[in-house]
Amino acid sequence: MPNVTSRSPFGLNLRSGRVASPGRFGSHRSSKRRASYNPNMSTADRLGGGRPSTGRVFQRVMGGDLPVAVRAEGCTIWDADGRTYLDAAGGAIVVNVGHGRQSVVDAMESQARAFTYVHGTSFTNEPLETYARAVGRYLPVDDPAIYPVSGGSEAIESCLKLVRSYHLARREPDRTVVIARWGSYHGNSMGALDLSGREPLRRPYEPWLGRFQHVSAAYPYRAGETEAHALGDVDQLIAELEVAIAVAGQGRVAAFVAEPIVGATLGAVAPPDGYWPAVAEVCRRHGILLVADEVMTGFGRTGRWFGLDHWGVRADVMAAAKGAAGGYFPLGLAVASGEVYDTITAGGGFVHGFTYSHSPVGAAVAGEVLRILESENLVEASATQGERLKALLNDRLAAHPNVGEIRGRGLLVGLELVADRATRRPFPRSARLIEGVMVHARSAGLLLYHGTGNVDGTNGDIVLLGPPFVISDEELVRIADTLAVAVDRAAADVGRSS
Ligand SMILES: Cc1ncc(COP(=O)(O)O)c(C=O)c1O
Repeated sequence: MPNVTSRSPFGLNLRSGRVASPGRFGSHRSSKRRASYNPNMSTADRLGGGRPSTGRVFQRVMGGDLPVAVRAEGCTIWDADGRTYLDAAGGAIVVNVGHGRQSVVDAMESQARAFTYVHGTSFTNEPLETYARAVGRYLPVDDPAIYPVSGGSEAIESCLKLVRSYHLARREPDRTVVIARWGSYHGNSMGALDLSGREPLRRPYEPWLGRFQHVSAAYPYRAGETEAHALGDVDQLIAELEVAIAVAGQGRVAAFVAEPIVGATLGAVAPPDGYWPAVAEVCRRHGILLVADEVMTGFGRTGRWFGLDHWGVRADVMAAAKGAAGGYFPLGLAVASGEVYDTITAGGGFVHGFTYSHSPVGAAVAGEVLRILESENLVEASATQGERLKALLNDRLAAHPNVGEIRGRGLLVGLELVADRATRRPFPRSARLIEGVMVHARSAGLLLYHGTGNVDGTNGDIVLLGPPFVISDEELVRIADTLAVAVDRAAADVGRSS
């Protein structure tokens, strides 16, 4: 581990060394509202005040008619027509410290005024070195070194390459097998998608996938359902993992990758207690690196700093993103333990890099987000407000005929919707139940996150809640009330048990 001391442009003494250097070192067009594109219109006119001319952006929602966001503060977003929305999902479970934080904008501006971009192979930078030391004490990884990138998928791709580089450095080139789980999500870039056990997202790209193996999800609600690839018993889950390792062959498995608590694919599903310590023991015994995907669960989302903290387990390699910069900057982190970092550094280096990695502005933003989380005790707030939210939801929905389970930790809360509670039968995908829930909620000013396919790769509906940690008690009541009405109306629309 290098321990370089240098003088920063700010006159600070930098102890460089916990940042892994890059490179080789040691509605589609919204059809209804679409305005025709006018090449003669100036950029200033196009960007000028009022509602912008839409139609030339490839939108995330096909055929959608998206409102135009103009402002956001706390847990509220305003659109160009003056409507307000309660952001009960923090976007995609991203916004943890709340929208519109002036101090984060100030940190961003101050760094941007100094410099916004220098290439990671030419310079390190003060905000990044400072951040690496500050965040290190919270990461569930021993003696961590961070490799900062632009998001969760890039972080996962970087973790995979760290794994490979580690085994190459140890002269174990045959450790090429990576085991992930069904019912998981690790990102949409090709390597991350291949790890993901999320069939609706894999299906169109299946001919390009298939490098990685998958074992069962730790999914107690659907334990034993083969189409859900779900088990709920620790002994069965561990026995299955041991079989996969044995089938791969002695010294062949490089890594096991999983979300500590499954987010987008299953809807806030925690494994049975005992699972994570047992997985860690199996990995250590077989020389397999334990890779934790904390992209959604990190930075306080589940009421602890990181998901693995619920079980006191440490990872060898880890991915984070989303809450790291709270939505203020596209930032992800691949994290290596000191042992992994030292082995790679001593063994020939890390062949990797992205143009926008190691961003000084991203680090300045993340540093301020971290400071807010600490100084306002927001991780504790996530734990207490999460319990309140679950209690409110249980009060309104626990007995609802179409609510199978209300679950989660901290402010990562999931609802699994079913057509029949006794048999856990889902609504058919063709009923588009979850779309109905989203529409009813949105028309009442509530934004949710959702997923489908959790039961068998096609059917199944989940709602995921993940509001900012600054959410008030009154806002929690609004979430529960509005969601209860939205679920009830959507189920009634499709014929409660269709
Ligand atoms: C657990 C997990 N890993 C990886 C990703 C991918 O992150 P990104 O969308 O920033 O690429 C996500 C995104 O939802 C995620 O939830």
